[in-house]
Amino acid sequence: MSPTHAPTFAIAIHGGAGTIARSTMTEERAALYHAALRDVLEAGRRILADGGSALDAVTEAVVRLEDCPLFNAGHGAVLTADATHELDACIMDGRTLAAGAVASVARVRNPVRAARVVAERSGHVLMAGEGAERFLSTQGVALVDPGYFTTPDRLDQLRRAQAAGAGMLLDHDGASKAAASSGDPIDPDRKFGTVGAVALDLSGNLAAATSTGGMTNKRPGRVGDTPIVGAGCYANNATVAVSTTGTGESFIRAVSAYDVSALMEYTGASLEEATRRVVMDKLPRVDGRGGLVAVDRFGNVALPFNTEGMYRGMARAGEDIVTAIYE
Ligand code: GLY
Repeated sequence: MSPTHAPTFAIAIHGGAGTIARSTMTEERAALYHAALRDVLEAGRRILADGGSALDAVTEAVVRLEDCPLFNAGHGAVLTADATHELDACIMDGRTLAAGAVASVARVRNPVRAARVVAERSGHVLMAGEGAERFLSTQGVALVDPGYFTTPDRLDQLRRAQAAGAGMLLDHDGASKAAASSGDPIDPDRKFGTVGAVALDLSGNLAAATSTGGMTNKRPGRVGDTPIVGAGCYANNATVAVSTTGTGESFIRAVSAYDVSALMEYTGASLEEATRRVVMDKLPRVDGRGGLVAVDRFGNVALPFNTEGMYRGMARAGEDIVTAIYE
């Protein structure tokens, strides 16, 4: 017989991972990130403490991360090589395994809300591009002019990448200069920005949500791991809820989010063992850089990453909120 556990709740979030530029980080700038993460966690924790669902908590958390220009999703999303925005998001309900996702949408103000509408009202799992936007506009989802997503920092980032002849991942020599000029504690040109949240509610349900602008200077039409169920996002009440951030192609090839669940289900691995194995062992084998946040059905939380830093945080019943950037 499996042990019984008292009802509890937990939420964990991330706002991207990458190379830290400690030399350029001011206390003020770091404080901005910590405050933004804390606000998001407070909102999610409120929903869970009031008996709300894990699905509502991750939706609210990711909406707030999308609305915050510090993070690469929604307002403040990175630009494609054509200086356009193509946004991806996914949400999954661990209770039913219902999932919804949008890919390459350019006018949806909050892609995570759109993903939830796809899950609940379309009969599909993944919808893309203009067709998705046409459907979403009939469902009352807020559409905006694409200019809403663009910030001066993101335009600078694209120009630097293109001037340096950098590829999509932007591991180029201008990176630390970029960090110096932007003041972002994680070097903006070496940051694999995506946002995400995972939660366990008092009813024992798990949910995960992930949202991104993708990678700076990406080829138009390129889709990363974020909207791919099992790669960038996965939730199953039997095991775990996972949201990832990193080099999307690798996370797709490693089927990373689902792999955490599979390791737990088929090998009996703990959350800690499964997440470390995926992030520290399996992802590097396919050049995967980044991290993930995960919560299991008992409220254990893991936030591993194989880059120098990851914006992250967690809140659990009866505990203080914790936020962090570095190891
Ligand atoms: N992980 C986000 C992306 O590769 O698009």
